[in-house]
Amino acid sequence: MWVYLNGEFLDSAEAKISPLDRGFTFGEGVYEVITSYDKNFFLFYEHLDRLKSSLEKTFIPYPKELSNLENILSDLHDKNGFSNQSFYIQITRGVQEFRSHQDNILKAPTVFITSQNLELNPYRINPEKKGLRARLEEDIRWARCDIKTTGLIGNVLSLHDQTKDEVDEILFHKNGIIHEGSKSNVFFVKENIVYTPSLKHNILPGVTRAYVIRLLKKNKITLFEDSIPLDFIYKSDEIWLTSSTKEIQPVESIGDYKIPKKNSDLLIWRRILESFDDS
Ligand code: PDD
Repeated sequence: MWVYLNGEFLDSAEAKISPLDRGFTFGEGVYEVITSYDKNFFLFYEHLDRLKSSLEKTFIPYPKELSNLENILSDLHDKNGFSNQSFYIQITRGVQEFRSHQDNILKAPTVFITSQNLELNPYRINPEKKGLRARLEEDIRWARCDIKTTGLIGNVLSLHDQTKDEVDEILFHKNGIIHEGSKSNVFFVKENIVYTPSLKHNILPGVTRAYVIRLLKKNKITLFEDSIPLDFIYKSDEIWLTSSTKEIQPVESIGDYKIPKKNSDLLIWRRILESFDDS
């Protein structure tokens, strides 16, 4: 696999980052995930804007290559060769020779980019496919989930707990209010009205979430961004997850609870997925 590291395209086995990088010693890094379909980067500028915002919020200097990011991704696309790819762009504060908590002098952030084959959303090919299994977990993450940080231990911790059932996604909640998935945003449908947790609930402002909201408006479907209590799960006709790699995917069960089946022609997630335009 080819990767990009600080100005160079390398075989992944050749790519080396110092252990003194603050991404390693302090977990100080941000990232972005961008997908491409036949080399068209989907919602590229929206992702770039969020990356800039993550850098600003963490005071990590803006790396010069971001002004040339589309060309870098395009070259990596050619090198790795898959028709559809997902790109992970990771930026850390850089290498710090002598450890100190504070650092105002580092000016050379580390930029590391990988790309891998992107499986097409299976629900595009077969919308009748069984939905995803999710389970609920208390949201133990930090209070700045609006920043897309590489420090994801709070997101993945419970996935490592072997005593728990295997699921496709975890749904985080706090004080009885639903937040988001460990790697996706969440939407609910009740009586043809769509609800999604508002951004004030310490969630990532998903690029796909914003795109879906635009599509809902275009399709004249009512949407509320709101505080969504846990028991809303048991009153919902549909629950879906959105992310750059998932697009939209339906949830079938949350823990032991199965979402009642609805006539498939009436499912809003299917209408919205059909109107995705990633060409
Ligand atoms: N995850 N919430 C969290 C915590 C996420 O990690 C993601 C994306 C989303 C959806 O954001 P977007 O629509 O901009 O992809 C919401 C990516 C795909 C990942 O970390 O692999």
